[in-house]
Amino acid sequence: MPNRIWEEIERLKKERGAIILAHSYQPGVIQDIADFVGDSLELSRIAARESAELVIFCGVKFMAETAKLLSPESTVVLAAPDADCSLAACMSGADLREMKRKHPGAEAVMYVNSTIDLKAETWACCTSANSVEVVEAAPSDEVIFGPDRNLGTWVASQTDKTLHIWPGGCHAHSGADIRDLREKMAEWPDAEVLVHPESPSVFLREADEVLGTGGMIRHVEKSRAVKFIIGTEEGMIYRLETLFPDRQFLAAGKIICDDMGYTTPELVLKALESQDCGIQIPAEFAERAEAAVRRMTEIGG
Ligand code: 13P
Repeated sequence: MPNRIWEEIERLKKERGAIILAHSYQPGVIQDIADFVGDSLELSRIAARESAELVIFCGVKFMAETAKLLSPESTVVLAAPDADCSLAACMSGADLREMKRKHPGAEAVMYVNSTIDLKAETWACCTSANSVEVVEAAPSDEVIFGPDRNLGTWVASQTDKTLHIWPGGCHAHSGADIRDLREKMAEWPDAEVLVHPESPSVFLREADEVLGTGGMIRHVEKSRAVKFIIGTEEGMIYRLETLFPDRQFLAAGKIICDDMGYTTPELVLKALESQDCGIQIPAEFAERAEAAVRRMTEIGG
């Protein structure tokens, strides 16, 4: 990255009271620019705690919306305005209302990778870091879970509650090819295999640990293994290599979210320069969606 852009970003950050948040899937150069790099749950909690004047979010739309819900006084700008999440697009508030009609005794727990209108219909959101805890905390024995089928199936295997699962999925994780993972396991037979719960169940069966991205970092920190095969979006490899230069990491396959790759230093600079008011939450959803994400930040993980 040219020095000029780096210096300009640093200068504008101070001038505008801004913080830059980046998800661990972001390109390496963006992780280097950010004030905080983390998983969905950590970034939500940081946004709520910091209450910065301006939050530049480097990630995808639902993450910036979550930051805005938790920090309504902040201006939250998504650095790459077109970065969306195919998983969030899989289910709407109307879909959840229909499921509630079919399962009247069940509370709804929705993955934070979801739209605002869906969040507004939800008892609590969860991330991959606290999905089991949130489902356990729900005040009903039956729980409607969405939009991710793989995560829901995994959560169902970790709890005695009955889950009614919406059949959505992340195109990057769902599209991963198990033959790639098996090839890597043959290449690095002594490596630990860490897999994100958005992956298909055939991946989870091969895994030593099923973990969200924050959980992967905490696991590597305490593990004695030197080599790790990582079953999640490839940006995570940079994050792990930065944090643990004495360990080795191999991607389990081609798990790539194009939208996560949209952010560039130039877009971060443009977001800092812009005077627009950033993410706006429609008033009809704001209060209920905020309650669902606030509950998420308060439970486990
Ligand atoms: P984390 O909950 O591990 O941050 O994962 C976020 C995500 O979007 C996975 O695709």
